[in-house]
Amino acid sequence: MTDLNAVLTNADGDFDNSLGRLFQLVRIPSISTDPAHNADCETAARTIVADLKSLGFEAELRETPGRPMVVAHYTPKTATKSTPHLLFYGHYDVQPADPLDLWNTPPFEPVRKKDPDGVERMYGRGTADDKGQFMTFVEAARAWITTTGSLPIKATFLIEGEEESGSPSLVPFLKANKAELSCDAAFVCDTNMWDARTPAITTRLRGLVHEEITITGPSIDLHSGLYGGPAMNPIRVLTKVIAALHDKNGKVTIPGFYDGVADLPKATMKQWQSLKFSEAKFLKEVGLKQPAGEKGKSVLEQVWARPTAEVNGIWGGYTGAGTKTVLPSKAHAKLTFRLVGKQNPQKILKAFQNMVKGLIPKDCKVEFSGRGGGSPATEIPEDNPWIARSAKALKDEWRRDAVLMGSGGSIPICRFFKDILGMDSVLVGFGLNDDAIHSPNEKYNLSSYQRGIRSWVRIMDELGK
Ligand code: BES
Ligand code: MN
Repeated sequence: MTDLNAVLTNADGDFDNSLGRLFQLVRIPSISTDPAHNADCETAARTIVADLKSLGFEAELRETPGRPMVVAHYTPKTATKSTPHLLFYGHYDVQPADPLDLWNTPPFEPVRKKDPDGVERMYGRGTADDKGQFMTFVEAARAWITTTGSLPIKATFLIEGEEESGSPSLVPFLKANKAELSCDAAFVCDTNMWDARTPAITTRLRGLVHEEITITGPSIDLHSGLYGGPAMNPIRVLTKVIAALHDKNGKVTIPGFYDGVADLPKATMKQWQSLKFSEAKFLKEVGLKQPAGEKGKSVLEQVWARPTAEVNGIWGGYTGAGTKTVLPSKAHAKLTFRLVGKQNPQKILKAFQNMVKGLIPKDCKVEFSGRGGGSPATEIPEDNPWIARSAKALKDEWRRDAVLMGSGGSIPICRFFKDILGMDSVLVGFGLNDDAIHSPNEKYNLSSYQRGIRSWVRIMDELGK
């Protein structure tokens, strides 16, 4: 038996234990956006460090001003100058689980279940985003090390704990540890497959920047009868601002918003058309029928290659049971902008703030309380040699060609790997569109986990040749 086959057999034989180790991590509610869970984030990081140490990695928890990073290195005894050194990235933090009452089983008590369609899935917050995903390369490394005593490559694992809150500590961390973290390429397991049987390599991610606005009218909440009329209602102002963000063709109206957004190259357009993507099916799965983005752009283009302005939440006044005749003092909204091409997060924020200021009547004031930051979009050249070798390994596992695709989501680090460490990223993930990441009843298919592990076993083998 070749090494590769022996390692694959070992991974399959140990699969129930792989699942147990993943469940142990999912039980830790490592929600990075909520300070009440800081200790849980630390526990998750320590659990991963201990596990990687047990495999022979030099693993450490590294403090940051926010949640800690896990950094681990493995150098095979037989490594030479020509042995490739690869970085593997994932995140142990998760999104909040609310609304809790919509979960069929508690979010942090993972379960394995055979659903009525005959497919085996695991349910729990973080099963797909991203604990189940980054554990695919931890388990692949375990299978290599327990079977052959070593890895076929030099590996550095970087598992961060702030991805879901925009990775604020990341840029300073990468800058401060440039020599230690610079590898030949970065492998990221935090994206989707094309479908449950077809692997994919993602080469485009959108950037992201967020903002929160508060509009204040009267200095206190007022009786809406005694003051309604003369007193300006900040919720009316806020809804005007929000309504002004898009025109009737779905384009964003912020001045300069599309600076740096290029038209899709003809060849890319053609390749995407050949994917035979069903817009109707994509929308139907979430209870919709009509694409609502920019007119004249396909759904794939809208998600993979066009920027957006979205309102994520809006609140103010009285929202409890019954009525209350109040004229509120304050109105709030949270917004995010998804970015593509060369759009600059800071410029977008400034342009948005200027536009809002111009829409605020004299008697009201507006405050912006976003944390700034943000990340630009990532586009990875498809002729990168690491992509070709990963595609070969994926085809060996899945018996189908990997689809080169875009994604509408954001993984801030990919752009910083390139800009700060000079590394291209290869994004290979095993998530599916219906995994319900960030939603109630998040799940990961057992086949994603098992064949994800097998895929990394093969990719490591291919890269080590
Ligand atoms: N893993 C997701 C992004 C993703 C999902 C990419 C599926 C491709 C396919 C990631 O963890 C995520 O949700 N990121 C946030 C980033 C933000 C909070 C800075 C996002 O995209 O909203
Ligand atoms: Mn993720």
